[in-house]
Amino acid sequence: MKITFIGGGNMGEAMLAAILARGLSSKGAITVSDISESRREYLEQKYGVSVTSDNHEAIGGVDVVILAIKPQQLAEVMAGLNEEFRSPQLVLSIIAGARIDTLCQGLGYRQIVRVMPNAPAQIGEGMSVWADTAEVTREQREWAGSILGAMGKEIYVDDEKCIDMATAVSGSGPAYVFLFTEALTSAAMHIGLSYEIAQELVQQTVLGSAHFMQRSDKLPAELRRMVTSPGGTTAEALAELEKGQFAELIKQAVTAAYNRAKELGS
Ligand SMILES: NC(=O)c1ccc[n+]([C@@H]2O[C@H](COP(=O)([O-])OP(=O)(O)OC[C@H]3O[C@@H](n4cnc5c(N)ncnc54)[C@H](OP(=O)(O)O)[C@@H]3O)[C@@H](O)[C@H]2O)c1
Repeated sequence: MKITFIGGGNMGEAMLAAILARGLSSKGAITVSDISESRREYLEQKYGVSVTSDNHEAIGGVDVVILAIKPQQLAEVMAGLNEEFRSPQLVLSIIAGARIDTLCQGLGYRQIVRVMPNAPAQIGEGMSVWADTAEVTREQREWAGSILGAMGKEIYVDDEKCIDMATAVSGSGPAYVFLFTEALTSAAMHIGLSYEIAQELVQQTVLGSAHFMQRSDKLPAELRRMVTSPGGTTAEALAELEKGQFAELIKQAVTAAYNRAKELGS
């Protein structure tokens, strides 16, 4: 599969590394187009891929073009590539908030997949949610699924609205987990643990619980009940979280993220 990246930043590099690691393409068949000279040098040296600063030249004759630039760079990039794509090329965009309609109009092309990945994709533990246009063929869908599968889990949705919802859950989700981790670490220090011990306890607890949940056939609520004895320490802590309306607060946070995702895409 011949692949071109427009934008070789953090996420572009993560996808590039995953594609090479899975053998979905080879370094000789990958081009990265990036305006940053230092990024080009770095990616060429580290992965042996071709690099250029000419987006137009980079897209010629390739199967998949991955748009991995920042949202504020999209309008300029689209203007430079308008009506330049030829079927069966697939355009796969990971740009947050960029709607399929906007991409179709801006590029004058309709074989487009829109993806919302998340930060753990950078280590192959991502969650990508994706949608496409009716013009995307079965083969192109397979290309997209295999590229996204190389970065972790992927879910195809047939309604683009789900992408805004996923943005508020899996897209922003890593930040919620990091915040929870920070809060638990500072609470551990508040009751007297050193930073080093607190950090280790919290990280391993978050990781261990996530793996435990994944490998168990029980629902999270059942697992929670399993580790909560009546009148015990966990019950005492959970009662405090309930008093502070923890679940309601999470609902409000996710709804705010969802509303913002809709606003940014409109
Ligand atoms: N990072 C995440 O966890 C995450 C999660 C979900 C979605 N995304 C989406 O992924 C996209 C990429 O994010 P990122 O974190 O990888 O961004 P990034 O690190 O800023 O990478 C973008 C790269 O594109 C280059 N660039 C700018 N203008 C260009 C142009 N006209 N032509 C070619 N290259 C150009 C940038 O160079 P300069 O630095 O010189 O501008 C930079 O090297 C974003 O749209 C974001 O919404 C990211």
